[in-house]
Parts: sequence; C-alpha cells; structure tokens
Amino acid sequence: MSMAIAGRAKKVTTHTLQEMKRAGENITMLTSYDYSLTRLVDGAGIDVILVGDSASNVMAGNDTTVPITLEHMIYHAQCVVKGVDRALVVVDMPFGTYQGDTKLALKSAIRIMKESAGHAVKLEGGVEITDSIKRILTAGIPVMGHLGLTPQSIYKFGTYGVRAKEDQEAERLISDALALQEAGCFAIVLEKIPAKLAKMVSDKLHIPTIGIGAGTDCDGQVLVLHDMLGITKDFSPRFLRRYADLGDAIDNAVKQYITDVRSGDFPNDEESY
Ligand code: KIV
Repeated sequence: MSMAIAGRAKKVTTHTLQEMKRAGENITMLTSYDYSLTRLVDGAGIDVILVGDSASNVMAGNDTTVPITLEHMIYHAQCVVKGVDRALVVVDMPFGTYQGDTKLALKSAIRIMKESAGHAVKLEGGVEITDSIKRILTAGIPVMGHLGLTPQSIYKFGTYGVRAKEDQEAERLISDALALQEAGCFAIVLEKIPAKLAKMVSDKLHIPTIGIGAGTDCDGQVLVLHDMLGITKDFSPRFLRRYADLGDAIDNAVKQYITDVRSGDFPNDEESY
C-alpha cells in the first residue's frame, strides 16, 4: 500500500454513524455549501457535512427554503464534495423534487448522486414520503430523514416555532420516525422539538437521530455553519450557540481595508513589485 493511501483519513460512512450510535459516541454534523469553508470544516474533523437547502437562505438570500432548485443544490454539492476528504456528504433534496411522485423522487436523487458525487440525500417528512424513500433506496442511494420543524412546509406551519408540543403531534412524530426507520433511512434529523420527545424517539430507534433544537439526548447535533460562526447576525434562536463572531471580524477587516486604501497606506513598498 502506498504512503498516500495509508495516510488517507478514514472516510465516514452511513455504517460509521450507526456504529457511533451503538458505541454511544455523539455524531457531529454542520452544513456547508462551498469549497473553501468545506476544506476547513472537513479538516477540523466533522463527521457529516450537510449541503442543506438552507443554502436558499444563507447563500441566496431567500426568506424560505422553498425556491431553491435541484440545479442549485447540485452546484453547491459539487463544490462541497471537492473539498471533502473524510466527512459523509448528505445533500438535501429541494422542495418539489420528491413529494407525491416516487418516480420523480428517484430521478432527482439519481441526478444529485451522479452530478455532484454526494454520498446520501435528505428528505423532509414522515409516512407520506416513505414510498419515495423506498424507491430511492432501490437505486442504492442512502437516505436521511427529517422530522419536526421541516422548513419546506413553512407555509403549512405558519411559523418557525417549536413543533410537536401537543400529544397528538408528538405521537404522530414517533410513528413517522418508526416509519422512516422501517422504510430504510440510515439516520433522522429532529428539528426544533421538545428535548423529552427527542430522547424518547432516540431511545426507540436503532438508527441515529441528529438534533437541531432538540436537546441533548439525540445521537448527534447539527447546526447551520453560518449561524454558529456568527456570520448571520439576524438569527438567534435559543438553540443556537455561537462559536465565533466572524460577522464582526469580517466587518472590522473590511472597514480597515477601506480606511487603508483611502489613506494610501495599502499597498506599501513591501506589498508592491
Ligand atoms: O437545510 C438545513 O440546513 C437543514 C438543517 C437545519 C438540518 O436541514
């Protein structure tokens, strides 16, 4: 075996995540949408990179995730995949590319896998999308589920508030989680639900749960990269911990650059040829 192959980071697979759940090791997941930040995130050792349809908000400036297209998602996924050595890359299937049409779902998932070289896809919803999930799995494409606050359904929910606080919705969420596991999902994102419910679901399932605003007892955690780095300033839900203030750092750097160019301080002799 060559040194290059021997030295390569061991890649994270869907099986790695299932082993991590069995071993009680928390799974780490962050979103990413481009090559340069992916190099940093993957290099730091994250387990899973989600090419989230939150790119619609963070990258494209839309109010919701609804407008982002399959072509946009494939483009972001291509950029991310080029930057990854180790992490598992999961790509969100955008709104309108899988709901209510299993043939379309399979075709969309195949396009994502073939054109981006991502490793898995993620779909939002419960029992109503299990036929699409099963059909995608027939092509050997791993599927991650997503329950609770599913932002593609924002116009049905009306708000981005906590989901499944009432018994009826909580019971529905548990049966949806079991249906997704039964359909063959390798993991499920639980977004913005009570911590007690997330624990109950995580205990019931043999596949891992990845929480965002779902408390400490999920099998892993996910955040939107630009939120946790402090680049997006106008979004501060209770579940978000900011690990950096890159928004302020960028603001200061750009202001200093403007000052230096205007004053003639930049470039100096050492920065000139
Ligand atoms: O699109 C996204 O970023 C997501 C996460 C919030 C889980 O789906």
